[in-house]
Amino acid sequence: MFTATAPGKVILVGEHAVVYGRPAIAAPVWQTLATATVRPAAPGAGCSIFARDIDLHLRLNEAAAEEPLAVVTRLALAQLGINQEPDWQIDLRSDIPIASGMGSGAALSTALVRAIFGQCGVVVDAATVSALVYESERFYHGAPSGIDNTVVAYGQPIWFVTGQPPEPFAALAPLLLAIADTGIRSPTKETVGYVRRAWQQDPNRYEAIFDEIAAVVKAARRAMEHGDRAALGKQFDANQMLLESLGVSSAPLRKLLAGARAAGALGAKLSGGGRGGNMIALVQEDTVNAVQDALAAAGARRVIVTQLGG
Ligand code: PMV
Repeated sequence: MFTATAPGKVILVGEHAVVYGRPAIAAPVWQTLATATVRPAAPGAGCSIFARDIDLHLRLNEAAAEEPLAVVTRLALAQLGINQEPDWQIDLRSDIPIASGMGSGAALSTALVRAIFGQCGVVVDAATVSALVYESERFYHGAPSGIDNTVVAYGQPIWFVTGQPPEPFAALAPLLLAIADTGIRSPTKETVGYVRRAWQQDPNRYEAIFDEIAAVVKAARRAMEHGDRAALGKQFDANQMLLESLGVSSAPLRKLLAGARAAGALGAKLSGGGRGGNMIALVQEDTVNAVQDALAAAGARRVIVTQLGG
């Protein structure tokens, strides 16, 4: 038997523009986890996958070709040179909110790949896990930038540009984030599709917004490297304004953002695909409680406080 875990994630700055080749910064959130356990089953039983939190029970030999968890299982087995279906029961658990910008799909697939390799006694590196998970992410998202599978598989804050090796942030000054869930599920595929249609209709306008987001991401990186939280908070706010002009914000998100800022957050923005899902607020030790309360009062379903770096 082998058990493996993978974290949730937040995009700190740069979502959507990252799909168009601009940089983004993302970080793992270890307070929320996906867990996969592979157990040997009776000889001839074949391979079954149970994901109780999403009410899913798959038999590998019957699963549709495009079912993401079956895709990633088949790819992992092929990579291991296993041609015959193993007799396994695989259990998946997750407390990462689904379709909420926290990488739940990538985390489930990452835990699954690690557990499969672990069960076979093979050590697997983050780049291999990330590449396998990317293939399954394509079924959730269409044409994902690759940021979700990368940050979840590396388990470190990263600077990410599609097609380039990710740059982990080794020495990051500690940052305190409050992450609040609107409770509204918003599939990334839909918001990414919306932005793509708008970009196709007016490429000059959207390319200009993506360039402005890239400048924000670079300024955010400088602020993070200097431990300048106030400057980073300003970049969160600037990024949010640009996400508003992309059309991926919403009234429930704006309510949470306003509540966090009024309670003393240094900056706040939606995180991930937008419309629903989660927002993030940059807080300090002396404002974290007030911001948490304000987010709950503004309608947050769940607030997670996480520390990055330090
Ligand atoms: O999975 P989410 O909701 O965190 O969104 C991923 C970020 C996007 O930039 C919107 C899409 C992508 O593929 O990078």
